[in-house]
Amino acid sequence: MDGIPLALTYDDVLLVPQFSAVRSRQEVDCAAAFTRQISLKVPLVSANMDSVTEARMAVAVAEFGGIGVIHRFLPIQAQAAEVTRVKRYQSEIIESPQTISAHATIAEARQVMERMGIGGLPVVDPNQRLLGLLTRRDVLLADESVLVSERMTPRERLVVATPEVTIAEARRLMSGHRLEKLPLVDAQGRLAGLITAKDLSRDVSLGRATRDDKGRLRVAAAVGVVGDYLERAEALREAGVDALVVDIAHGDSQAMLTAMGELRERLGDLSLVAGNIATAEAAERLIQAGADALKVGVGPGSMCITRLVAGAGVPQFSAVLECAQVAQRHGVPVIADGGIRYAGDVAKAIGAGASTVMLGNLLAGTDESPGLVILRHGQKMKVARGMASHEAGLDRALRDDPAQGWARWEAAESDVAAEGIQAPVAYRGAAREVLQHLLSGLRSGMSYSGATSVPEMWRKARFVRQTLAGIKESGPHDVAGF
Ligand code: XMP
Repeated sequence: MDGIPLALTYDDVLLVPQFSAVRSRQEVDCAAAFTRQISLKVPLVSANMDSVTEARMAVAVAEFGGIGVIHRFLPIQAQAAEVTRVKRYQSEIIESPQTISAHATIAEARQVMERMGIGGLPVVDPNQRLLGLLTRRDVLLADESVLVSERMTPRERLVVATPEVTIAEARRLMSGHRLEKLPLVDAQGRLAGLITAKDLSRDVSLGRATRDDKGRLRVAAAVGVVGDYLERAEALREAGVDALVVDIAHGDSQAMLTAMGELRERLGDLSLVAGNIATAEAAERLIQAGADALKVGVGPGSMCITRLVAGAGVPQFSAVLECAQVAQRHGVPVIADGGIRYAGDVAKAIGAGASTVMLGNLLAGTDESPGLVILRHGQKMKVARGMASHEAGLDRALRDDPAQGWARWEAAESDVAAEGIQAPVAYRGAAREVLQHLLSGLRSGMSYSGATSVPEMWRKARFVRQTLAGIKESGPHDVAGF
């Protein structure tokens, strides 16, 4: 057994404080790449777990500057619908705006405006061709029975743009002409979208949100490597997904390499994240297979019992360190997935060479995760579960076949060792608050290392190992009032 290497986890190490010229932690820029093609202002990713990420969480994380990965334990169309929900959310470009006919009355127009809470309606003919625009001002003092066609601003007096307009061009046009609404019109004169000044001004307050070049929030989604995964991948791409996370428990496998080949062929240059892995050799293999980012972590997850059941895994700090050394040589980002319990762990993961960290447990207890708040011994909790738990497996079986699901699951899976558990997690309020706490901790950790950017952190971070006594000294301290 000579030569068995030692592997460490976050608790085993500390960042060594170093000379720092950073005057304020606000100077620290945490921007990093999620994949080779997608960069984030905040290197935080929500996990593709059914107790963590559906559209609501993905929106919250993307608005904060990170990205969410929609889990794959939904029927294909339902998962694609979650992606669509994110892509449409608060988008500056409303792709299917509410419209009205020129023959409608002002009374009807008022009703629509009030019901939908909107201040302007594009007026279209039955073929969706734009005829004019009716705003709140136009209906204000108008007689109820007057027709929309008599009060609208007609098409020839409207400033419009093509559906390909960039947000920057739209902003220039709207500010130059003092427009509140900019209809987008295709080559056939049909309404293809609407940009409103209100949505653009909201964008300024969400300046660090993760957006695509059309201004829509970015979102990723998970797929597997067997069964309907290709069909699922195509549906997700159709829905506008920005990256696919090819996610299996043992990513260093032939099944993964085959799937990567098929996906690359079908999806062209769509960002593909591959995982999970924990060794340098696996990192090299997945990069050669075309991965645009690597998801690293075998067994560190809070809901995960792989290491107990299978005896396999690598303590997470070492796994990240080892994979990142290979990945950085190829310019491929590493996502440190699982085992983040404190904000300091985020700084340690980035210091070890990761670009981003993926969070399960810490986000599972927030308002935006799927599932209800429960009360347990008077404490507010939510329920989280490992995706390889019996509970998750049984739920999937019942969803796919409500009548026979239980029997099928018992026959096929109940004697398979679960590699995950279900457990209550503390309720933590809004996801934004958890994310802010982690981001502040990361900024502090980087500033202790004298780094003002993630690449600088990779160069400068130095670690010491600590003993159990060191871990105890690190806290939390058993002191009254702490
Ligand atoms: P945290 O510690 O943030 O970790 O909750 C989230 C990550 O845990 C992984 N995961 C699992 N791993 N069995 C496993 O071996 C499971 O049932 C399971 N469910 C989630 C996953 O990588 C996730 O992002």
